[in-house]
Amino acid sequence: MLPPMGDNVVVSNMELERLLSMKGGKGEGSYVNNSQAQAMHAKSMLHLLKETLDRVELGDSREKPFVVVDLGCSCGSNTINVVDVMIKHMMKRYEGLGLEPPEFSAFFSDLPSNDFNTLFQLLPPMANYGVSMEECLAAKNHRSYFAAGVPGSFYRRLFPARSINVFHSAFSLHWLSQIPEAVTDKRSSAYNKGRVFIHGADETTANAYKKQFQSDLAGFLRSRSVEIKKGGSMFLVCLGRTSLDPTDQGGGGILFGTHFQDAWDDLVREGLISSEKRDTFNIPVYAPSLQDFKEVVEAEGSFAIDKLEVFKGGSPLVVEQPDDPSQVGKALVNTCRSVSGVLVDAHIGDKLSEELFLRVEKRGTCHGKELLEQLQFFHIVASLSFVQ
Ligand SMILES: C[S@@+](CC[C@H](N)C(=O)[O-])C[C@H]1O[C@@H](n2cnc3c(N)ncnc32)[C@H](O)[C@@H]1O
Repeated sequence: MLPPMGDNVVVSNMELERLLSMKGGKGEGSYVNNSQAQAMHAKSMLHLLKETLDRVELGDSREKPFVVVDLGCSCGSNTINVVDVMIKHMMKRYEGLGLEPPEFSAFFSDLPSNDFNTLFQLLPPMANYGVSMEECLAAKNHRSYFAAGVPGSFYRRLFPARSINVFHSAFSLHWLSQIPEAVTDKRSSAYNKGRVFIHGADETTANAYKKQFQSDLAGFLRSRSVEIKKGGSMFLVCLGRTSLDPTDQGGGGILFGTHFQDAWDDLVREGLISSEKRDTFNIPVYAPSLQDFKEVVEAEGSFAIDKLEVFKGGSPLVVEQPDDPSQVGKALVNTCRSVSGVLVDAHIGDKLSEELFLRVEKRGTCHGKELLEQLQFFHIVASLSFVQ
């Protein structure tokens, strides 16, 4: 039996921060099992990450640990792999200069509802600290750093002042801190009537999202500017777009603005939810243009831009047999569900959410070939150095 219409809660902005997470656990729709595309995209950008790390000033290795942070780490192995790359790279830099490497510390940070348990279970055991650096590097399947989880929003302060050498964040900053109030206010011209995302929406609605993104990013930079040590750097990657028009959200737009949108419309048409229920659901994602991003970094002023570019990431769908449309449908639904399932469940409940994602899969299967061709992600990649 499906629950009656409209008996669930509309997620308020306050709640978004407490609720938002990628799908935890290790099930079919979990983030752990649906983040291979992010892993591939991150791998193709490793040279840019290493360039950023080469700019970081090496501190006094005898006194303090060298501290790296991954912001928006989620619960898969991507964060563990990137932290490993960062620490090994920094160790080699110390070694190359004939310096004794310091101890390393890594903070894995995400919102409180992130599945930190799954993440911690994936962490390799700690290598025997105090052994030589060569032994540390050789110790496969061990980590050579102290690890801790830090719950909280990266749009605010998370760490003590001047305590962090390197900040890293991948595929996270496009998540807004909240849906702009006007977007869910029926009386406002920015009310997102008929839609669950801003792709193809009114310009006013998309501009409200843009404003929210820019104010969030400014808060992020302000907080990091207090926490970062002198000579520290940041490497940031988030979903981006090539178009100047914010109503064209590129790959993110296709993911949330086509089959996912149509599936919501199906539920309304079939009388399973009211149109208002659909209209009050909005995906809190904004894929910025390079210009949107640059304006904020320059206006905030704490960081110098060493590199800022739009990088072609590729498809978010990993499909073993691309000729099999049912596999494309499955990949689409799992991708959608792993990142938005928690929010959908909260808005319409588990049973209707199941119905919605069944329709996403069916639609994805019908449009398998074109989805694989058209669904391509672009990312904004920023390498920033702290200026005092
Ligand atoms: C797609 S995942 C990226 C995970 C990981 N970085 C990777 O490369 O696979 C995005 C993550 O950003 C987190 N996130 C979104 N908004 C956040 C915020 N305001 N503060 C901290 N984390 C946030 C989400 O909870 C989610 O875990």
